[in-house]
Amino acid sequence: MRRGLFISFEGLDGSGKTTQITRLAAWLKKRGHSTLITRQPGGTTTGERIRALVLDSRSEGLEPMCEMALMFADRAQAISEVIKPALAAGKVVLCDRFTDSTEAYQGGGRELGSELVLELHRLVCSNLKPDLTILLLPSLGPALARARLRNQSTASANKGSGDENRFETEQESFYRRVRQQYLKIAAREPNRVVLIEGDHSIKEVHEQVVAVVTERLSRLIAGAH
Ligand code: TYD
Repeated sequence: MRRGLFISFEGLDGSGKTTQITRLAAWLKKRGHSTLITRQPGGTTTGERIRALVLDSRSEGLEPMCEMALMFADRAQAISEVIKPALAAGKVVLCDRFTDSTEAYQGGGRELGSELVLELHRLVCSNLKPDLTILLLPSLGPALARARLRNQSTASANKGSGDENRFETEQESFYRRVRQQYLKIAAREPNRVVLIEGDHSIKEVHEQVVAVVTERLSRLIAGAH
């Protein structure tokens, strides 16, 4: 069976990735493409447990190396349990964050550097790369404000039984490094990474996403014949 299409979505917290993934999945399903949505960290039973640990603001004093190792532990499980089987079955896999997030957040934000992240990706993930990465980089201030607002409401709904706020408490300088590292990745891999920078409406971004996915799907179908 022909291999499916692996699409990752990347960007700052509050960049609207999840909205765009939901919209794209609906668009794909309407056109008869079997689609799987997954997220990192998370997406498997083990991964959701790692997610709860790594994103919870009660996980105080987590070493950057530990944080990075947890992200790769999650990813190793997701690749084997979810991503590879779906691609082998010819599905379109929509992944909310992948290794570019580790390079941007742990490599850039935590200043562990790209080399270490890329080397671990080769070793732990057999260098599996998305066919296409949609990178959403709106202006920093409004994106972080959106993310913080959303997480405040989930934290109060959870009433002290855990939250996903650990990253949102980081300084703006951390997020500036994350953004810079994302821009470096986009410049390094222009064929894989489609950068949508600046503030646009949900509809405008969706139209850009659909245009690039349409082109990649037709290439995939042409290659299969
Ligand atoms: P996500 O749920 O996508 O948050 P949002 O919807 O706010 O964008 O991601 C959770 C957080 O995990 C996010 O702050 C980025 C962080 N993260 C890393 O630091 N490294 C990684 O490798 C991944 C996958 C996520």
